[in-house]
Formats: sequence, structure tokens, C-alpha cells
Amino acid sequence: MILLNPGPVNVSDRVRQALLQPDICHRESECAELIGDIRQKLLKAFVPGEEDEYTAIILTGSGTAAVEAALLSSLPLGKRAMVITNGVYGDRLSGMIKMHRLGVPDMKYDWGVTPNIDMIEKAMIQHPEVYTVAMVHHETTLGFINPVKEIAEMVDSKNRVFVLDSVSGLGGEALDIGGSKIYVVAGASQKCIQGFPGLGFVLVRKGFMEQVMKYPKRSMYLNLANYYEDQERGTIPFTPAVQVYYAFREALDELLEEGVANRMKRFQGYASTIRVGMKNMGIQAVLPPEVQGNTLTAFNLPDGVSYPQLHDGLKQEGYIIYAGQGKLADKIFRVANIGALTNANIEGFLAAFQSTLEKARA
Ligand SMILES: Cc1ncc(COP(=O)(O)O)c(C=O)c1O
Repeated sequence: MILLNPGPVNVSDRVRQALLQPDICHRESECAELIGDIRQKLLKAFVPGEEDEYTAIILTGSGTAAVEAALLSSLPLGKRAMVITNGVYGDRLSGMIKMHRLGVPDMKYDWGVTPNIDMIEKAMIQHPEVYTVAMVHHETTLGFINPVKEIAEMVDSKNRVFVLDSVSGLGGEALDIGGSKIYVVAGASQKCIQGFPGLGFVLVRKGFMEQVMKYPKRSMYLNLANYYEDQERGTIPFTPAVQVYYAFREALDELLEEGVANRMKRFQGYASTIRVGMKNMGIQAVLPPEVQGNTLTAFNLPDGVSYPQLHDGLKQEGYIIYAGQGKLADKIFRVANIGALTNANIEGFLAAFQSTLEKARA
């Protein structure tokens, strides 16, 4: 089956084979080595040239676990967080903060609308209690790229901390973490890095990590300070998904061999083939090209054709597409183009789409 959903993705045989390593105990040196390797490779991939300035913290859990750990750990006592949201995953950040009653009103925008930096700056002045500002990089709801650099730099200039959910961005969408003054970024194994689901990670600027160690701990499991302390000593607080970690190390090797820039270019190539092919079949993208990323496209459902018709027809042909969420669930569909895919997979998908469409309209 070819997965054109935004993760979990098709992995290479090499990554799959890496699951089959010998059984190890997570309190032994083999596991310490594995964790150390993963942390170092994450820094090499995502903060090249600034590996000494950042630390990578890994945990067992999906992307949401990494995001929640990042957000809840980055808030000093007596301060509040502000969330900028224009999609489902921004709303999830907001939900995490609301659960602890540590927020101020969200800077909420419609899906596909670019947040207004002047309004965000004004809200920060109105709310001096805000210390942490959080946002999503690639908002998977529509495949929208948020203006991360501008907002992160503004937040940093006000001596506040910017926390980024780049679960669906890292490895597929451009992000200059150090150059944009981003101190905290959350990611996950199963999307653009092409590993199996089950490992979340957070990249944190070391100077800020020293501060985080003094902040209140708001969760037993999702607490960056605990992980950092243990991982610096070559251990981990809770039982890791060892086999998933082995495969993730292999996926990181693959990424480093391909090069992050080439990985992005490969995805961009697939996206562009899909967008042109869809346009030729009269299928319109939801977003204008200037705010689209490299990794996913939201399309309007063709007139008279339902999502289940498209999905089920394509599944029979061996391709999985993805539904819209919330208010757009019955209006759009999404096609991601991440994972160990080939040009032939993309061409095959377009041919299958055409025949599915013809059958649905017959
Ligand atoms: C932007 C973004 N953040 C967070 C998540 C949550 O990741 P997970 O499903 O791994 O918890 C996703 C998943 O699609 C996502 O796209």
C-alpha cells in the first residue's frame, strides 16, 4: 500500500530491517549508545553547525507527546503561554495549555490565514504575563506554512521564548532553527524523517534548557527536565520503544546520507507533480501556491464526488489518501507526499486517481 497520508509513512527496507536488532535491556550500555547516537544525529540534521548550542531530548510517544512536553516544560512559574493558531494542531497546542489554565486568549486565525505579526506583538504588550509563545510550523490541516522566522524573531526580541510544533515539518519543510532564534522545537519519527511511529523529540537551545531545569514540572512523563537529566547521564527515565529507536537511528542515517536539502527537494518534486496532475484533471488546490509547503496538498473535492468514493476507490488501487478535518471534512481531501516514495509511485497514484474519478462519475 502506498501511503499518501501525512504519516505514518512508507519506510525503506533498510529502516524496516533495523527493527530486527538483538534484544537489549534499556539499562545497558547498548541502549545508552543508541540514545546518544539518535540525539547526535538529530542535531546534525536539524541544527547543522550549531550542534554545540542545542540539545536533543527523545521520548517514547507520538508527536503530540513531544509537543506537550515541549510546551508544558517551557513555562516559568507565574507566567502564561499564548498560542497562535490557524488550524487543528494550533488548536491542540491551545488545548494543552487550557487544560492547565495557563493560557491567555489565543491569537486565532481562520485555517489558511497568515497570522498578523503586529497583532501578536500588541497582544504580547497587553499580556506582560505571557512568557511562552507557541505555534505550528507546517499546519497539516491544509498544508500551510506559517511565517515562523518573523514571529520567532519578534518573540525573541521581547525576551520571550518561542515554542514550535514542527512534527510535520522537520525534514520536509525549510526551517532555520538557530538563525530564527527558536529555542524549542518538537518533532516526531514517523513523518518526513521516514521512521516508524513511536518516538518524539524536542530540540532545545542549551542555555534555555538550563532555565527549563528550574521551571515547575507539570507532568511526570512529559517533562523535559527529567529526560534531559537522565539522557545526559546516558540513561532514560522510562522504558523506551527500543526497536523503534533502532529503526529511527537508521532513518536518521538515511536522511543524513540523502541530505535534508535534497530530501526537501525530493518531496517538493512529488508535490509539484501531484499539483500539476490534479490541475490537469480539474481538481483545485485549497491554498494559493505561496503558502503551500512541500509535503501535503489539500484539494477541493470534485463536484458530485464524495470523499469515501475517492478514498475507497484509491485504496482498492493501493493508495491511501487523507480526509479533511473538522468543518472541511466533507469538502476537501488531502494528499501527502512524504516517505520512501518514488516518482513511479506518484505517477501511479495520478493514474489511479483519474480512473477512480471516472468510475465515481459514471
Ligand atoms: C503539525 C502536527 N502536530 C502534531 C501532530 C500530532 O502528531 P501525532 O499524531 O504523532 O501525535 C501532527 C500529526 O499529524 C501534526 O501534523
